[in-house]
Amino acid sequence: MTNLTTENLITTKLAEGSNPDSIKEATLILKNKGLVAFPTETVYGLGGDALDNEAAARIYTAKGRPSDNPLIVHIADTKAVYELASEVPKKAKMLMEAFWPGPLTIILPKKNIVPDGTTGGLDTVAIRMPSHPVALELIRESGLYIAAPSANTSGRPSPTLASHVMEDMNGRIEMILDGGAVGIGIESTIVDITGDVPVILRPGFITKSMLEEIIGEVTIDPALIEPDPNLRPKAPGMKYTHYAPKGELSIVEGATSNVVAKINELVSERIDAGFNAAVITTLENADRFDCENILVAGDRAQGETIAAKLYQVLRQCDELNVDYIFSEAFNDGELGGAIMNRLLKAAGHRVIKV
Ligand code: TXA
Ligand code: MG
Repeated sequence: MTNLTTENLITTKLAEGSNPDSIKEATLILKNKGLVAFPTETVYGLGGDALDNEAAARIYTAKGRPSDNPLIVHIADTKAVYELASEVPKKAKMLMEAFWPGPLTIILPKKNIVPDGTTGGLDTVAIRMPSHPVALELIRESGLYIAAPSANTSGRPSPTLASHVMEDMNGRIEMILDGGAVGIGIESTIVDITGDVPVILRPGFITKSMLEEIIGEVTIDPALIEPDPNLRPKAPGMKYTHYAPKGELSIVEGATSNVVAKINELVSERIDAGFNAAVITTLENADRFDCENILVAGDRAQGETIAAKLYQVLRQCDELNVDYIFSEAFNDGELGGAIMNRLLKAAGHRVIKV
């Protein structure tokens, strides 16, 4: 990554996303190859002109992201798909109809107007139509297609609040449009529609069964299921370590009473050894732990509340500067798979079964 010295730091303006004047200002920045972070319904995105190599290059520099990791192109009108993709199979149309605008990204063969800088040299392009009104307004007002990865520094949890973006991007981008807390909290589901059977490359709020209801059989990229050095994930970004807090995170999995007992034992061991620790839990179990730092990720009975809080809680671990973090597992419900995909990465797949 390019080192940002004090000379090349820029002023990052924080503006109200719902204000039409802010949107106009953001539009001008984007048209001049600048970068604007904006809220989507999943996480905050770091936007630049998707058809401009220079803007794409600036995105990689701001994030410190490897340039083989392609960007998602955000659109506000299905007509755009036909400008960007050389072929739009029937199943893609059915998914667009069913889930757009919304948290689904579709991989399609790209047309030449999409530069290599945006697709990391791939001959496919990832396209999504977000449902957040600020995102849609920004795309419409600018008349651009907006390339936007999550607006975090590479490796950190994706931002779910404008303040998270400020933490990571201050001095590196021109503007942040503040839209408050995002709704979903984990990134969009990615589905590759270029083969015979559609493949999920990243799990998300739109689940396998929701996709199958519309287009029949869908598989999951095998590289996502078990970490295996011989399997290369089809979404280049999925191979990187992600979300990991600075402290060592372990997931403790099993029957609740065993999990509570084990975490309490581990916390007390670490404290006795002179370290500090935090516990990631849910509303249901929060008062069963004996630890100074209890981080409540949400309500176990409602998986979407855990998705919405997960990244915020992982960022809090860094603010608290804890050495060890122990988390319950959150496998339950429709969203369990998508949540655990992120938590397992954050934990470097360190799981203690009890
Ligand atoms: O919810 C989201 O999708 C958010 C918001 C801002 O829209 N964006 C997001 O972007 O999560 P990013 O860049 O953090 O993740 C994009 C993922 C990466 O894993 C990347 O490798 C994969 O999408 N990807 C992008 N283009 C691809 C392509 N042509 N083929 C396969 N994977 C692709
Ligand atoms: Mg990301």
